[in-house]
Parts: sequence; C-alpha cells; structure tokens
Amino acid sequence: MNPTDATRTLALYSSRDGQTRLIVSTIRDQLVEAGLECELRDLHAEEVPAPDDYCAVLIGASIRYGKFDPRLARYAERHREALNARPSAFVAVNLTARKAQKRTPETNAYTRKFLAASPWRPELCEVVAGALRYPRYRLVDRLMIQLIMRMTGGETDASKEFEYTDWAQVEGFAARFASRIHERLER
Ligand SMILES: Cc1cc2nc3c(=O)[nH]c(=O)nc-3n(C[C@H](O)[C@H](O)[C@H](O)COP(=O)(O)O)c2cc1C
Repeated sequence: MNPTDATRTLALYSSRDGQTRLIVSTIRDQLVEAGLECELRDLHAEEVPAPDDYCAVLIGASIRYGKFDPRLARYAERHREALNARPSAFVAVNLTARKAQKRTPETNAYTRKFLAASPWRPELCEVVAGALRYPRYRLVDRLMIQLIMRMTGGETDASKEFEYTDWAQVEGFAARFASRIHERLER
C-alpha cells in the first residue's frame, strides 16, 4: 500500500432495492467524518476492487429469498487472506432482523450460516433490519413477501412502504468500526 493511502478504506454493497446501499453509504459518510477516506463501490459491478490497496474493508449485503447474492461468498473466498489481514466488517441486511431477538450474528440464521461457511472472519459484524417497499416490487415478489409477512406477523398492506432500519444502531456500528480502524493505524 502506498503510504499516502494509509487511511483509505473500501465500502462495498450488495443491494437489490437500494436499502443496503443506503446503509453502507451512511457508514461511509461517518468514516469520512472520522477522518478516513472511503470509497463506496458496488459488489455487483464488473470490476470490484480487491482489499489490498485499502487499510480496512466494509461489506454490506442483503438477503433475498433466504440467500445473500453469490457474489458476496465469491469475493470473501477470493480475497480471504487480504480481508482477514486488515480490519473488516460485515453488515447483513434482512427483514427477519426487524425482530430484535433476530438481530445479532448468532440469532440471525442467514448471518450465522454465512459466517460459519465463509473463510472470511470479519472483526465486526452487524445485523440490520432492511425495508419493505411493496409498491416497488414485481407482482410475484409482492405476493411472496406478503405471504411471508402474514406468516411471521409482519406488515401486509401492499400499498405501503416500511423502513425498519434502526439508524442509531447503524451509527453506533460505524463509530465502532471507525475506532477499530484508528486503533490499528496507531499501532
Ligand atoms: C424478493 C424479496 C425477497 C426477500 N427475501 C427475504 C428473506 O428471505 N428473508 C428476509 O429476512 N428478508 C427478505 N427480504 C427483505 C430484504 O432483505 C429487505 O427488503 C432489504 O431491505 C433488501 O435490501 P436491498 O434493498 O439492499 O436489496 C426480501 C425482499 C425481497 C424484495
């Protein structure tokens, strides 16, 4: 790494409907406020930067029909060593996390399974509730999500949008990640 790049961080998002992008870009803004440089990049783009030129990496990814996008696991696999060699953080976004008891890496089944199978060991991991924006979904998706919501006691009014993201939680997480990076830089 070029010494002038010592404070350069990477923030990647895997997002289908924009909520994870919003969460990751909010964290990026906070890292910048904390005196770090931060590049926001799409994990679904053709060219995704490797972690090597950055002092820390954040990855945020959302769940769709029980799964993270496969590009998340591929990136983690391909860059396992570089990721594990620097401060890294994972933010898992889904609707199950709207229930507080399913909002930790241990109690959120998607996150627990991903971490158990991945060679990437993020130093910090946060599970964040996403958004439910019925009017924006295709008919099939809207009906499917409505069915899942009915079965799990969630909102079923398909004419509305609901945001469950706890922004104070996101802010607290960003602050923890920023101090973790600063600690490492001071060593
Ligand atoms: C088609 C579809 C399928 C989804 N499947 C799940 C799911 O299986 N479990 C869950 O907890 N959330 C599920 N969600 C909720 C998303 O994870 C949530 O809307 C999140 O905010 C999406 O993030 P994104 O906008 O960054 O893609 C689903 C959402 C959609 C639209």
